[in-house]
Amino acid sequence: MQTTYDTTSLKLKKEFPEAEDFLPLNGTDYVELYVGNAKQAAHYYKTAFGFQGVAYAGLETGSKDRVSYVLQQDKIRLVLTSPLAPGGPINEHLQKHGDGVKNVALWVDDAQKSWEETTRRGAESVYAVQEHEDKHGKVRTSAIKTYGDTVHIFVERSAYDGPFLPGFKVWEDEYQPSATGLKYIDHMVGNVGWGEMNKWVDFYARVMGFAQLVSFDDKDISTEYTALMSKVMTNGNGRIKFPINEPAEGKKKSQIEEYLDFYNGPGVQHIAVATDNILDTVKKLKARGVEFLYVPTSYYDDLLDRVGHIDEDVEALKELGILIDRDDEGYLLQLFTKPVADRPTLFFEIIQRKGAKSFGKGNFKALFEAIEREQEMRGTL
Ligand code: FE2
Repeated sequence: MQTTYDTTSLKLKKEFPEAEDFLPLNGTDYVELYVGNAKQAAHYYKTAFGFQGVAYAGLETGSKDRVSYVLQQDKIRLVLTSPLAPGGPINEHLQKHGDGVKNVALWVDDAQKSWEETTRRGAESVYAVQEHEDKHGKVRTSAIKTYGDTVHIFVERSAYDGPFLPGFKVWEDEYQPSATGLKYIDHMVGNVGWGEMNKWVDFYARVMGFAQLVSFDDKDISTEYTALMSKVMTNGNGRIKFPINEPAEGKKKSQIEEYLDFYNGPGVQHIAVATDNILDTVKKLKARGVEFLYVPTSYYDDLLDRVGHIDEDVEALKELGILIDRDDEGYLLQLFTKPVADRPTLFFEIIQRKGAKSFGKGNFKALFEAIEREQEMRGTL
């Protein structure tokens, strides 16, 4: 598995030379999943991943149609939402997609301006700016559509000091398992339909002011059987990175196509969360029941020939199945969970960067082969 690096591939593409940072985005504010049973999902993310309960909205806070649990680990904030009554958009989303990411909320200084700038450039509005207020202050939000039924909410919270958003109360929760070392969202990947990658690359460039960071072609990321294409979009300050995947023709079904079939359309494929000690984090996650993709031990046979010197002990990495890749600026360590719900859709990536700014291209082949083994078992290859 020899990987050669195109040294220009990590530079910004000429087509979209620089992100025009008209928003700008301060970071990811939260990621909201619509799930069938938010109470039990919250238990899973706390117990298995080490998130802590921070805020809650439901019947007790006057929310009659939905319940939401807000969980946090360092800078990563997850919101898990379930409907409390039949009908309505949350049930429709669940019926169509199963559990999955609905809202990728972005932290901005000005929700009004963010909505105006993006809709003026062609974004489809979900709602114009709204002001929410409680005793902790004011939050303004606005929202636009992205791929599939996924939404970007712009959150302006400089005048707010409550636990999450107006309407939420502090979740007084005695059960707070210890953290596992997850720090922030490194990137979030979207799967889009056949031939739609460039449309969404263009959306992030023209509507959101993002730049294209890295380009793969399908030769880079295919195995004998399955293939995909991927481009990475980043905002001006580099805090937000959204790779966009589309399926490519192979002898058998692309893993992206399998996702599209089970999610019933485009959506978030994986959330990559960063740690600064992947050995420790993955050891904890495994002990707490998080399931990871299995990589054959032969992956490690020629590892040092491929990646050169690394600080970690190869045996320790091998034991946990952690993957390593190098680019011009350093290396990275990464590992992928199995899907976190029953449909083969959303999964997580655990990543530790040691200088590398890329996304593990050299691991794609090993990874795809691991995914194909799972697809084979599901009868969807
Ligand atoms: Fe990733």
